[in-house]
Amino acid sequence: MNLPLDLHSREFQEDPAPTLAWLREHDPVHRSEYGYWLLTRYDDVAAAFRDPRLSSEWTKKGSLPGFAARERSGVAAADDAFARAQRTVLHSFNMMDPPSHTRIRQLVQQAFTRAAVDEQRGRIVELVDVLIDAGLANGDMDVVTELAFPLTITIASEMLGIPVDARDLFRASFESTERLGDPTATPEQRQRGRDALVWQLDFIADVVEQRRTQPQADLVTALVQAEEQGESLTHDEILAALLTLYTAGGTTTERMISSGMLLLLQHPDQLALLQADPTLLGGAVTEILRFHHPNQQTSTARLALEPIELRGKVIEAGHTVRLGTGAANRDPSRWTDPDRFDITRPELVSLSFGQGIHYCIGAPLARLQTQIAIGRLLERCPQVALIGEDIRHDPRRMDRYERIQVTLT
Ligand code: HEM
Repeated sequence: MNLPLDLHSREFQEDPAPTLAWLREHDPVHRSEYGYWLLTRYDDVAAAFRDPRLSSEWTKKGSLPGFAARERSGVAAADDAFARAQRTVLHSFNMMDPPSHTRIRQLVQQAFTRAAVDEQRGRIVELVDVLIDAGLANGDMDVVTELAFPLTITIASEMLGIPVDARDLFRASFESTERLGDPTATPEQRQRGRDALVWQLDFIADVVEQRRTQPQADLVTALVQAEEQGESLTHDEILAALLTLYTAGGTTTERMISSGMLLLLQHPDQLALLQADPTLLGGAVTEILRFHHPNQQTSTARLALEPIELRGKVIEAGHTVRLGTGAANRDPSRWTDPDRFDITRPELVSLSFGQGIHYCIGAPLARLQTQIAIGRLLERCPQVALIGEDIRHDPRRMDRYERIQVTLT
């Protein structure tokens, strides 16, 4: 086999699909050279999402035999600004198991029910139209920075209650904090990530303080009021939940709209089908999610709380297990001809939003924004086309785009 097995190498990042396909077939429970395990088969990944032996609560590692006990922070007792920020982030409900996870998720969920999201429909259409108007006036548009990013970050800002004028600062800081979990990051990149995390939490803490005296119709206010009404929600839990939601709301859907539009433009037969029959839009979004969702490669992680035997291997307690949703979404045992982008597939649920108790809280919002952005663009600009090769990848992740320039007329 001549494929790159270093899952963080540039070679792998540039074209992960062949390696992932090989792993899925020959080594579906793979121990990577970084120490973590990677699951790539649909059935294994789906089962792992629902397996209570696989925890989202990393601080439990300290209580497992053979691992040093740590405080809730999961970091040493250091008390510098970054250590404090790390402690706060570990209070995010997505990094908790029941019962804490259930308690906080129930409160946050109210803002993201299907009905609550449906109320955003008019606002999303309005924003998309303003952005398309600007593109039409220019004759062209960068789908990433002039449509997907401003749309998704504005909606996330408004729903949560984070001032939208900070959106560019947040965008740059999200890029920095992403490097914190990257084993190949340089010391300088790691330091930038640390500074960015401290800045993000300070910013959100200021907004929370402001809402205590000046309530608004937003999620920050709802969480502050829940805390004040004794709903057992701590200050750190509020900050961490808001940061998780803002990071997810401000990054993932942008990538989905961008890569989805690109996929359609690169598959003219599928684009023509959709233009001829707009009722295919829902299926197209499902297929975009399956085919090219933003966390293609190694994705969501869990902590093994006890030894787990799977396909002849034993994952020891304390080890990290990565749920390879991108690979699972192309498992030939689940989809016919899985490497073909086909918007008319009979709807089969992919694993892109996860499964079980941590199922993506923003899924209805992400789907709605993607449908409206792509649907309106195709409806208002039926001639939309790529401008030659004017596409720029994120230099670290080939499944993410920094620029996709299209002509609109
Ligand atoms: C295309 C866009 C998106 C994708 C592919 C995506 C993917 C995912 C996945 C795979 C999970 C499960 C993680 C796990 O099991 O540990 C998840 C959870 C989550 N997502 Fe999303 N997401 C998207 C958009 C959003 C948006 C727009 C928001 C919020 C505004 C959001 C908020 C969350 C939160 C808070 C969780 C944690 C839920 C929990 O732990 O109970 N996501 N997402």
